[in-house]
Amino acid sequence: MTEPYKLLFVCLGNICRSPSAENIMNHLIKEAGLEAQIYCDSAGTSGYHVGEKPDRRMTMAANARGIEMKGRSRQFDRYDLEEFDLVLAMDRSNYQGIVALDTAGKYEHKVKMMCSYCREHSDQEVPDPYYGGADGFDYVIRLLMDACEGLLEEVKGELG
Ligand code: 4NP
Repeated sequence: MTEPYKLLFVCLGNICRSPSAENIMNHLIKEAGLEAQIYCDSAGTSGYHVGEKPDRRMTMAANARGIEMKGRSRQFDRYDLEEFDLVLAMDRSNYQGIVALDTAGKYEHKVKMMCSYCREHSDQEVPDPYYGGADGFDYVIRLLMDACEGLLEEVKGELG
């Protein structure tokens, strides 16, 4: 049995955007019957919320669109760059936080902006919903659904 293709979603706190991306992607992977071929995880560039469950407001927005939210926050570390095949940054600041740990410049080819996979939205970044209202959380879910659908098509191509 070959190793699954490994995706890591990264934001700042790993309690809003990246756990949503992970859980939406797992939902799509399950629908496609690709659980054995694609593995997902998420992490935060900060350690502010390590060990915490996803933000309650984010979970409500995800549940309202049929997505279950699982997982606990963990901090991104340099070994993730070796371990994962593709690392998806939610915004430019997350991107900078990730490549800052790639001190030898070996892994930049694995790091992509999540919105580069969107097919219906023109956003360049997934906006941080933390200090905003409920609409912001729902927007993050819709934007990530678009990006995850595009990403799944791309990864299917990698699987051959
Ligand atoms: P996330 O959202 O990066 O999407 O998980 C945030 C969570 C917490 C904070 C900021 C953004 N914070 O400042 O604590």
